[in-house]
Amino acid sequence: MDPATRRVMPLNLSSLFAHSFLRYYVTRADSTHTRQTSQLIYRSFFRPLTKVRYDLIGQDWVLEQLFRVLSMHSQRLAVAPIVVLLCGPSGHGKSLLARKFGSLLDIPTHTVNMTTLRSTHDLWQSYSMSPYEEPSSDTLAQFLLNNEGERCVVVLDEIEKVEDPKALYSLLMPWELGRCSLEAGKRHVDLTKVIWLGTSNICHDLVFEHHDSRPDPSKPVTREEYRDLMDLSRPQVSQSLGASLLSRVTTVLPFIPFTMEEKMAIAAEAVYSLISNAAKMLSPEEVEAIVMKVLPSYVPSEGARSLHRAVSNELVDLI
Ligand SMILES: Nc1ncnc2c1ncn2[C@@H]1O[C@H](COP(=O)(O)OP(=O)(O)OP(=O)(O)O)[C@@H](O)[C@H]1O
Ligand SMILES: [Mg+2]
Repeated sequence: MDPATRRVMPLNLSSLFAHSFLRYYVTRADSTHTRQTSQLIYRSFFRPLTKVRYDLIGQDWVLEQLFRVLSMHSQRLAVAPIVVLLCGPSGHGKSLLARKFGSLLDIPTHTVNMTTLRSTHDLWQSYSMSPYEEPSSDTLAQFLLNNEGERCVVVLDEIEKVEDPKALYSLLMPWELGRCSLEAGKRHVDLTKVIWLGTSNICHDLVFEHHDSRPDPSKPVTREEYRDLMDLSRPQVSQSLGASLLSRVTTVLPFIPFTMEEKMAIAAEAVYSLISNAAKMLSPEEVEAIVMKVLPSYVPSEGARSLHRAVSNELVDLI
């Protein structure tokens, strides 16, 4: 049973459709687009990633493009390593997707918080910072050696916030050739199977401007509109990270604003996760009433976080 369903097990089946987020998940799972996107990686090593839809609300075009890139790689149609840059506004699921990537595929992940790097050398010496991973005392260099020749994920969180851009130069060789020496004068390590995922707020303004400039901003983004946004994103990333680094990035995936259904699903999911922590039951009508009440508190530049905050403020009075 998928995690979304498991979380609401105490509920009666006939009432399931009264729940914003289940209605959202069921409709989405049923859509032709979802099935076509999943087909892209159906026969590959990456198949378990299709389950990311039970965690990540919206961002269907991000997933489509991501699965397309992974599919090319699994058919050996690409030569360079996989380097994906997830960019755009805060609270839209970039770090969530980066985190789920390795856990769904059951491969090791090392997460570098790029804001903490001080020198070029620091990158290989940095420890994994994610509170969601098993604690480890390995540096990135040790992690890459331990997983040499194997599939693994390196997340470079907040990549544009690195203090000295020179710290990114050490990525040039591994991103181009899939190998590099992790210490001066030492042998080259095989990094061809490493999946590099960068997250960044670059393109924050572009995403909103592009969204509002569409003929009808209340309509869902079309594939053409998303492709257009992807094309506009690369020059902005190039300006921020430099052309030499960007030229080695396989794909830049901007995260886009949530639709009304997606905001409702996020708010409803927040209600269920908070009330289950407090071991409290609410009727579907009560949940729906909270969802409707918190929607006006949505702040586009903060994304899901603004809804989480509004939901927890509402629940303080109830629990
Ligand atoms: N698309 C989404 N679907 C479901 N939950 C989401 C989504 N986006 C954000 N959230 C929720 O909001 C929280 C913050 O999301 P996340 O850390 O992925 O944001 P981010 O895009 O990396 O933002 P930032 O740029 O500030 O780092 C997550 O823990 C998650 O619970
Ligand atoms: Mg993040």
